[in-house]
Amino acid sequence: MQLAHRLTALAAALCCAAAAHAQGAGPIKVGLMLPATGTYAALGTAIENGFKLYVQEQGGKLAGREIQYFKVDDESEPSKATDNVNKLIKRDNVDVLVGTVHSGVALAMAKAAKDSNTLLIVPNAGADAITGAMCAPHIFRSSFSNWQPGYATGVVAAGKGYKRAMTITWNYAAGQETVKGFTEAFEKGGGKVIKDLNLPFPNVEFQALLTEIAAQKPDVVFAFFAGGGAVKFVKDYDAAGLRRSIPLLGSGFLTDGTLEAQGPSAQGLQTALHYADNLDTPRNNAFRKNFALTFKANADVYAVQGYDAAQMLGIGLSAVKGDFSKRDAMIAAMGKATIDSPRGKFTLSPSHNPVQDMFLREAVGKNNEYKGIAAKALADPGRGCKM
Ligand code: PHB
Repeated sequence: MQLAHRLTALAAALCCAAAAHAQGAGPIKVGLMLPATGTYAALGTAIENGFKLYVQEQGGKLAGREIQYFKVDDESEPSKATDNVNKLIKRDNVDVLVGTVHSGVALAMAKAAKDSNTLLIVPNAGADAITGAMCAPHIFRSSFSNWQPGYATGVVAAGKGYKRAMTITWNYAAGQETVKGFTEAFEKGGGKVIKDLNLPFPNVEFQALLTEIAAQKPDVVFAFFAGGGAVKFVKDYDAAGLRRSIPLLGSGFLTDGTLEAQGPSAQGLQTALHYADNLDTPRNNAFRKNFALTFKANADVYAVQGYDAAQMLGIGLSAVKGDFSKRDAMIAAMGKATIDSPRGKFTLSPSHNPVQDMFLREAVGKNNEYKGIAAKALADPGRGCKM
């Protein structure tokens, strides 16, 4: 290299190292706490891929800052959650936590995030308290509250004129709160939930409960299951011959990311959720194309939520030009943002939960296809949040 060139290169290096140092730079450390094993493993992968896709689309950086990933498999196991999240907070010293899928694990993450004042973005778990009684300025959600898809499906069920419903789910926060949302809207619309059935997470021994449904003959069954458990439930419901006699409705997780594995048993099932695969917008089409090219897999709602978690972080970092030490300004920008999601644009409620349209969808082939709006700009009530 010519001497002049070397000097120029040296000057450039000094300049930018100094600027980076002024920002307290080095990479932003992102702690991904997601399930890599168990019934929700595929959901964790989709979220991670969605997050990384957005970062990759920005050239591998957000607001000029490199992103460094730290990972923990949370196994969707609440009893290990506090130890697991502390690996990211205390051992790895992450700047921001992103996680998780399971509501029980996410509640422990939110507590640890509050205790340590660590920024947290929840890319799935719907536990109502995260953007309710536990809300905090540095806690955000890019997904939904459990109440939202439950409520929207209750609106759909009442609108179809069903009067007597049974519900079936796993006995933990996500199942219970989704059923509560369903019941609220269904009974407001003139229906009655005659019985709630449940089993422990992540059990899939559904036979005794299906026998009870057959005996009670409700007008409709509402189910919350997801991941591997949803695959098994939808197949068992069909194999028991119930699909011919008792319509099955669910929050959209019942058929999201699962249609290939469910095969014919899921075809025609209607669900409500904040995403539909075939939303024909430039934003969604580009997202799905990039996702499929990069990961050789179809995007689903989990991928969207991961992608949007990265967008929210990017919006915050851009507002402070990558200077993470200006965290208050960063958080304020995130709270005020309009997020240009593949699901459609959304804003955040005062407790940092998406205010979003809930779609009625129908399973057709490998897609959950848009059928209409189940609930427009649905905002979680954020019960108990004082911020
Ligand atoms: C939850 O535990 O909050 C949860 C898990 C899987 C889903 C949705 C919600 O698909």
